[in-house]
Amino acid sequence: MKISFYSLLVLSFLFVQQMNATEKINVHIVDGIKKNKPQLIFRCASGDDDLGWHFPTYQGSDFQFSFKLNFFVETIFFCHFWWGKKDASFEVYRNSGACGSEIHTGICYWLVKEDGFYLANQTSPPPSFLVRKFGWVNAIY
Ligand SMILES: *[C@@H]1O[C@H](CO)[C@@H](O)[C@H](O)[C@H]1NC(C)=O
Repeated sequence: MKISFYSLLVLSFLFVQQMNATEKINVHIVDGIKKNKPQLIFRCASGDDDLGWHFPTYQGSDFQFSFKLNFFVETIFFCHFWWGKKDASFEVYRNSGACGSEIHTGICYWLVKEDGFYLANQTSPPPSFLVRKFGWVNAIY
């Protein structure tokens, strides 16, 4: 087997470049429910990071958090939402998931609406940029 010095050099260069590309991701959870009735409640967390309970008080209220990607570990943030008798929970970010693989702006803009959860790649997105990803389910409590 022949591994040239040149290819080793290129490989290590690419590796160091990857490590330095600590991309920053900004996640927004925006309350898009008119009048906010019933009260929207949500809680987001990753494996080692609990972002607490949130009770947005008005339509347009924007909870945001950001983090840097680690090249060596998969980053996952999930949220659980409650709205009256409905709830939903899903990953708002995963490297290989919707936000991580489909969006290349570093902005995961989630809009919570009466009929479900929409994702866009920028803040204040035009309606055509919003893609419906999940619906609500009827909670069993
Ligand atoms: C953002 O999303 C829109 C709609 O999907 C797309 O047309 C646009 O190219 C995206 N922008 C970037 C910078 O990825």
